[in-house]
Amino acid sequence: MAESAVRMTGVVKRFPGVVANDGVNFEVMKGEVHALLGENGAGKSTLSNILTGLYRPDEGTIELDGSTVSFGSPRSALDAGIGMVHQHFRLVEPFTVAENVILGNPETPFVIDTGSTVERVAELAKRYDMAVDPNAKIWQLSVGEQQRVEILKVLYRGARVLILDEPTAVLTPIEAEALFKTLRAMTAEGRTVIFISHKLDEVMSVSDRITVLRSGRTVGTVATKDTSTRELAGMMVGRSVEFSRAVRRNPGVSSDVVLSLTDVNCNDDRGRQALHGVNVTVGRGEIVGVAGVAGNGQRELAEVIAGMRSSTGGRIAIEDKPVLNGRARAAIAGGVAHVPEDRLHTGLAAGHSVEDNMALKNYRTPLLSRFGLLKRNIITTQADDLVMKYDVKTPDTGTPVRLLSGGNVQKVLLAREFSTNPKVLVAASPTRGLDVGAIETVRERLVEAADNGVGILLISEDLEEIMSLADRIVVMYEGRLVADMPATGATREQLGLLMGGATLEASR
Ligand SMILES: Nc1ncnc2c1ncn2[C@@H]1O[C@H](COP(=O)(O)OP(=O)(O)O)[C@@H](O)[C@H]1O
Ligand SMILES: [Mg+2]
Repeated sequence: MAESAVRMTGVVKRFPGVVANDGVNFEVMKGEVHALLGENGAGKSTLSNILTGLYRPDEGTIELDGSTVSFGSPRSALDAGIGMVHQHFRLVEPFTVAENVILGNPETPFVIDTGSTVERVAELAKRYDMAVDPNAKIWQLSVGEQQRVEILKVLYRGARVLILDEPTAVLTPIEAEALFKTLRAMTAEGRTVIFISHKLDEVMSVSDRITVLRSGRTVGTVATKDTSTRELAGMMVGRSVEFSRAVRRNPGVSSDVVLSLTDVNCNDDRGRQALHGVNVTVGRGEIVGVAGVAGNGQRELAEVIAGMRSSTGGRIAIEDKPVLNGRARAAIAGGVAHVPEDRLHTGLAAGHSVEDNMALKNYRTPLLSRFGLLKRNIITTQADDLVMKYDVKTPDTGTPVRLLSGGNVQKVLLAREFSTNPKVLVAASPTRGLDVGAIETVRERLVEAADNGVGILLISEDLEEIMSLADRIVVMYEGRLVADMPATGATREQLGLLMGGATLEASR
């Protein structure tokens, strides 16, 4: 009979405006790899931050080996045997592996006996099958090796429960396989591993049991051998509100291409390749949904089309005219509109008024300026019209947008983007975080624009949204488009599987 290592009961954690954990129950047995699976925003990191003493829960209890505990800090959690392997490494670059492992250890004597530490670190690394040289300097190591140092740090301090939050996000597939081997070696010795991920294939291959979180709640716990990626996908995305499919007056024409990407590559902010040979087209009046779990290249895809990021290869064209690489103004002039993920920072000037924001993109046109002077009255009139049409709830058009609610901020942004008469709109999670009323307005405006001939690339994690709006759906996984299919006939299970990395054949 397996013994309980960690039991969390009724855990609630609220942040302003969100309940990140809403009564989570989570039990992990000694000696198992237990995966915590859920979509982005499901509450996984919050739960692990509570378990490791970084956050205090608003409600609920934590038991470790059967006794109730309460951690005031990560140090006290580690003293009790719970260690976190962080997503963002906290290593000191000019120091060696061994030095990093012992740094911050309260038992470290003032004068470090490096010789014996090196030996102990080498022994630990060998025992758990982690190839890393204790004498190497951190800056000389690959990301995978640095992660091993983080693992060694918590093992060295005697952690019996190790939590890894999306550890494979930074690894190559071969490094990930090596990590899985290490995790199994640790559980074989009776240690316990909590493995956080949103990737189905990976939790299937590494875990003994899986707990699925959705919207801050526990959906259920299953034994890995008794479940399937299909069942997990269903648990992960749920079957909540079914919005009906949008009614289109003028369904799009795939063959009349307004946006095309051919073999497009680009890097992320850290210089790693984020897009791998992406090919996609959007037809006139067509809505193409890009489904995928965030962090699989969607942000880079949107930015590269909007000219906010340079591609490192391939071709992007609007109506078959190539657009200048990495030049936002050229993209706008070419007819690209963009609703970014990060509305208030990238999308709008938060401190400026509603009307100034609405004029931000076409203030250079003859309509709004003449001989370099802005036509203030026309700007105000345009803003009044847009406020009405987009149902923006604001005291007046002079109000700074930072004072508006999320839904109204998004309406201002959409109003402005469509006021430029774009040929193509790239919209990233356009309804995320909005209330139902605002979601409807935003969706109606998107459909209306498509009916009027705008080609829309709709990037969203929300399958409901993609399935109700898109004419065609592509799925993005690890920087690649892994499927391209008509929206009619696509099922939520199939998309969920593809989003988790299953092949198209396996998803059928
Ligand atoms: N420090 C924080 N402040 C405010 N909101 C937060 C904070 N951390 C997480 N959230 C919110 O809580 C929810 C759950 O987030 P998180 O636990 O990070 O999910 P996951 O790790 O599953 O992606 C999200 O809506 C997120 O925006
Ligand atoms: Mg997380």
